[in-house]
Amino acid sequence: MKNIVILISGSGSNMAAIVRAAEQGRWGERLHAHVAAVVSNRADAQGLAFAKDHGIPTAVLDHKAFASREDFDAALMAQIDRFSPDLVVLAGFMRILTPAFVAHYAGRLLNIHPSLLPAFAGLNTHQRAIDAGCRFAGATVHQVTAELDHGQILAQAVVPVLPNDTAQALAARVLTQEHLIYPRAVADFFSRRFG
Ligand code: GRF
Repeated sequence: MKNIVILISGSGSNMAAIVRAAEQGRWGERLHAHVAAVVSNRADAQGLAFAKDHGIPTAVLDHKAFASREDFDAALMAQIDRFSPDLVVLAGFMRILTPAFVAHYAGRLLNIHPSLLPAFAGLNTHQRAIDAGCRFAGATVHQVTAELDHGQILAQAVVPVLPNDTAQALAARVLTQEHLIYPRAVADFFSRRFG
């Protein structure tokens, strides 16, 4: 069985979408893959309860307990590696990762970013898209490399930017698409690689 480890920091709705897709799409049988663990850097991440309810092991590693980013990432890698991951999925994990972490999971580390990359890497993507007068926005699933929000694009979804849109309204519209493309990209990762 191939192991997927999902990293979250907050609501974990993308994680929940992947867990549901794995259940409904019978990934265990069809792809020989399952969500082996959900790891959060915040004990209060709402997504942890969802994972537990679905019988998925969870772990919390508080980044504030570590003196440096390097120390935290080393401990995080040890925690993740307990589950022998074939794929590590960043799903709203709000930490910048060290080059050592990214190198350790090279080729098996995915992220979702709420913009049509390469436009609007970084934070505040929705307001920036509105301010730039974009007619369309969206989300991108990509491989993670040392450069923030770069790396091979695996999937994208497009939504319209509506007149008088707020960042919040646009974010909600984009998020509904994230929930469709992220599970699909994870499934594709396994059918391409191991199918
Ligand atoms: C998503 O918009 C994701 O693209 C961004 O943070 C948000 C996380 O949402 N990186 P959730 O925790 O998956 O609900």
